[in-house]
Amino acid sequence: MIHVLVTAKDGQLGQCFQSLAVKHPNIQFVFKSSSDLDITNTANIEDALKDHTFDYCINCAAYTAVDKAEEAIELVDKVNHIGAKLLAESCKKFNVTLIHVSTDFVFDGKATVPYLEDDITNPLGVYGKTKLAGEQAISNVLENYFIIRTSWLYSEYGNNFLKTMLRLSKERNEIGVVGDQVGSPTYARDLADMILRLIESKNTSYGVYHYSNKGVVSWYDFAKEIFKLSDSSITLNKIETKDYPTPAVRPKYSVLHTERISKLLDLKIPNWKVSLTQAISNL
Ligand SMILES: NC(=O)c1ccc[n+]([C@@H]2O[C@H](COP(=O)([O-])OP(=O)(O)OC[C@H]3O[C@@H](n4cnc5c(N)ncnc54)[C@H](OP(=O)(O)O)[C@@H]3O)[C@@H](O)[C@H]2O)c1
Repeated sequence: MIHVLVTAKDGQLGQCFQSLAVKHPNIQFVFKSSSDLDITNTANIEDALKDHTFDYCINCAAYTAVDKAEEAIELVDKVNHIGAKLLAESCKKFNVTLIHVSTDFVFDGKATVPYLEDDITNPLGVYGKTKLAGEQAISNVLENYFIIRTSWLYSEYGNNFLKTMLRLSKERNEIGVVGDQVGSPTYARDLADMILRLIESKNTSYGVYHYSNKGVVSWYDFAKEIFKLSDSSITLNKIETKDYPTPAVRPKYSVLHTERISKLLDLKIPNWKVSLTQAISNL
């Protein structure tokens, strides 16, 4: 039996792990909510870790409101940077492998080819800067960690682009979506599935990995496919980033190179359209 602690069970990714748990009878999960286990509180973390002999801790906890983050620097740093560091320190003390989820926002989006794990980072905003600081803290403290960077996460759970588009398609007749930012939408359930395979593989090639669904699209293309698959008649207009100003600057090109994880796990990563179809049918 493999023993796994999952933080932030009620977040989008945390809920994906809960829904997949039944398919993995060889893994004994303990799921903790943000109120049971605050990752910025060492006593909380150690209380959770000392109860069992965990092999892995999957950290799904993060401050993810990218725009609000610009105005809440201290709090965002406390969760995304200090929280990650404290988790790593406790994992070291209890000899637990940490699997930490990070983001494409550690890059500035000025590339024209998919980002490799070792490419130079240069986050544009508070969210990306604090996530990067969290990554660096983990790698300074621990040897046995996996940092998985992902992009454009959506699912049937929590707040995400898919659910926002589906809601707006019922509330409005027309919508504008940016067509000049591209990336790879990632079904959070696919990400969770890959992480559970990684755990079951017991692989010890620790380090940083990228995971997203295959394919490159703009937010406009993503919305178009959502409306097509959900039979929505909403009028969709392509707009430019400059017409939709947000407090946090987004990377223009957010494509992650995923070969390292594919090779490690002999994984065939699903195309974004296939996974989107699956997510909509699971809703
Ligand atoms: N969403 C995306 O598009 C995206 C893209 C790339 C990477 N990621 C990364 O993927 C991971 C999962 O994201 P997600 O979409 O599942 O995020 P989410 O739905 O916003 O969930 C984040 C969870 O973290 C919890 N949390 C916040 N502060 C905490 C603390 N101090 N201690 C414990 N829990 C805390 C929140 O609980 P409360 O609600 O109670 O505060 C919430 O349950 C994150 O690391 C994120 O940075 C996300």
